[in-house]
Amino acid sequence: MTIDGVKTIGLIGAGHIGSQVARAAIASGYHVVISNSRGPETLTDLVSELGPQARAGTTDEAAAAGDLVVVAIPLKAIRDIPVAPLIGKVVIDTNNYYPRRDGNIAALDNETSTSSELLQAKLRGAHVVKAFNHIYARQITTDATPPGTSNRRALAIAGDDPVAKAQVAELIDGFGFDVIDVGPLSESWRIQPGTPGYVKQLNAEELTAALATAQQRS
Ligand SMILES: NC(=O)c1ccc[n+]([C@@H]2O[C@H](COP(=O)([O-])OP(=O)(O)OC[C@H]3O[C@@H](n4cnc5c(N)ncnc54)[C@H](OP(=O)(O)O)[C@@H]3O)[C@@H](O)[C@H]2O)c1
Repeated sequence: MTIDGVKTIGLIGAGHIGSQVARAAIASGYHVVISNSRGPETLTDLVSELGPQARAGTTDEAAAAGDLVVVAIPLKAIRDIPVAPLIGKVVIDTNNYYPRRDGNIAALDNETSTSSELLQAKLRGAHVVKAFNHIYARQITTDATPPGTSNRRALAIAGDDPVAKAQVAELIDGFGFDVIDVGPLSESWRIQPGTPGYVKQLNAEELTAALATAQQRS
């Protein structure tokens, strides 16, 4: 069942995470508009696998079409994300910072910011919520279970807008996971690569404990 106000999910990025979120979204009854860097014509196979609820578009089209939009591209590419069509929208940030892939970013190396705060600073007027950054892509479908399942896997979210976070929490519950709120985007480092909860299959109680024991690198 879909959540109120969200019929279409826009995806910027169609790789491991983008394609898996698209599969979960379609299974939950949403439409998706999915995009990558090379253009919609390169997504024919994926769209045909996803079926009639999916179409490919440019990043601008995915951003404009989505009632909620997911950013699933390497962090170094966030400079290319269209800003205007995302104003006022909830934007899920799946990104992680890997200096070897993304190049060194001083504010992340010295931990004066988080990767999600960098995205939020770029997307002024959007409501960024960190989610899906600490689960292996394939597990977004393989680890999903209905609400109330014993030992159900939990996923963390972080964000500065409570209404946006509530919407993303409902979306993730519908996809098949409990949800733990880490706090504002400034606290999202608690679930970044190298922390105790990162890519671990944890239930709500275990994830809460892992988030509490996380430490910054410096
Ligand atoms: N893989 C995982 O299990 C996993 C888990 C959690 C979080 N993450 C994080 O999620 C993000 C995406 O990871 P991924 O594994 O899905 O990456 P991926 O498989 O390499 O896919 C990246 C996608 O981003 C697109 N892209 C790259 N640059 C772009 C640009 N400038 N504009 C539009 N689209 C662009 C690519 O399109 P083209 O192919 O056309 O270039 C591709 O569709 C990363 O920050 C990663 O660290 C990954």
